[in-house]
Amino acid sequence: MILPACNSAEDFTFAPESIAACADTIRAGGLIGLPTETVYGLGADADNGTAVAKVFAAKGRPADHPLIVHVAAFDGGLSGVAHFCAQVPPFAQQLMSAFWPGPLTLILPRRAGVGAAAAGGQDSIGLRCPAHPAAQAVLLALRRPPAGQPEVWGVAAPSANRFGRVSPTTAAHVQSELGDELLILDGGPCTLGIESTIIDCTRGAPVLLRPGSITSAQVEAACGRKLLSKDELAAHASTAPRASGTLESHYAPNAKVRLMDAKALQTALDLLGADVGKAGIAVYARSALKTNSRQLVLRRMPAQADAAAHELFAVLRELDDLGVKLIWVEIPPDTMEWVGVRDRLQRASA
Ligand code: TXA
Ligand code: MG
Repeated sequence: MILPACNSAEDFTFAPESIAACADTIRAGGLIGLPTETVYGLGADADNGTAVAKVFAAKGRPADHPLIVHVAAFDGGLSGVAHFCAQVPPFAQQLMSAFWPGPLTLILPRRAGVGAAAAGGQDSIGLRCPAHPAAQAVLLALRRPPAGQPEVWGVAAPSANRFGRVSPTTAAHVQSELGDELLILDGGPCTLGIESTIIDCTRGAPVLLRPGSITSAQVEAACGRKLLSKDELAAHASTAPRASGTLESHYAPNAKVRLMDAKALQTALDLLGADVGKAGIAVYARSALKTNSRQLVLRRMPAQADAAAHELFAVLRELDDLGVKLIWVEIPPDTMEWVGVRDRLQRASA
């Protein structure tokens, strides 16, 4: 069931009964579809092992893949961090004060006895303080329960899609992934559209586990430290934490995705000529391409990286729904702003 977060299309104040229904469901050990500024999450009480197990089951996700835990922002996320984390290095504190609430997840040493199921058995925990006001309304309600009800410190929420599929950026996407029984809070289309930047803060230096809208340069400027890549880390240590968002093949639509530069795309279109439409191919490109096929599904990718990120998963879903067999995508520029979009497209094509 989809519940609107706001009172009406004209009235952007929160519908208190929607927020309360979501908080009640989480408190009772249930699951909700939670809007965030990146993608929709499938949320459960991070300290409730039974509830977290339902998240893994609903997604079809292996139980040893840790989930991101979302915390309330009223105090900059600090009390949530204190609840879940054993200790926070100074560079991680700087990153929190620079980017929270926002699309940044920090992997931190976990305090023994808390969030164990959400952490998938690891001794670290991924924490994020989301910027979406509706997510924050639910998180705050959980920290301020009605008399006699327990306080919930964090909501474990992976992206609300079945394992390995494209992440949802609207309430309707969540419903089509996970069904109508799930309570889904509709906070509108996600503004950013790709998942948070993940930085491992348990290794003495910041390590980038997953690129997102916040760039490496922004991270380095905020904490005054060089951000290591996973490859640089691998040179130092042999045990890397699991991160399913970092599996080679992930974010995959049903159609096969192929990445090409504009020249290769144009050559392929020229070769197929008028038959390209019949071949079940869709094209998603920034460049203006020429085709003499009227049936070809040709979607223009925005020239700005943030606009492309915003629509990326929705476009992949749309093209999938048209039933095309192949999606040819123009590879994004090799610049810092495009790293997050490139990463998701490379995984979708793996
Ligand atoms: O933008 C986002 O981060 C979205 C929204 C819903 O907040 N959430 C999201 O969660 O993408 P998920 O579970 O799909 O991706 C979480 C990633 C996974 O790759 C997971 O393995 C990694 O974070 N992660 C979580 N806790 C970790 C830990 N303790 N150590 C290493 N990686 C961790
Ligand atoms: Mg995911």
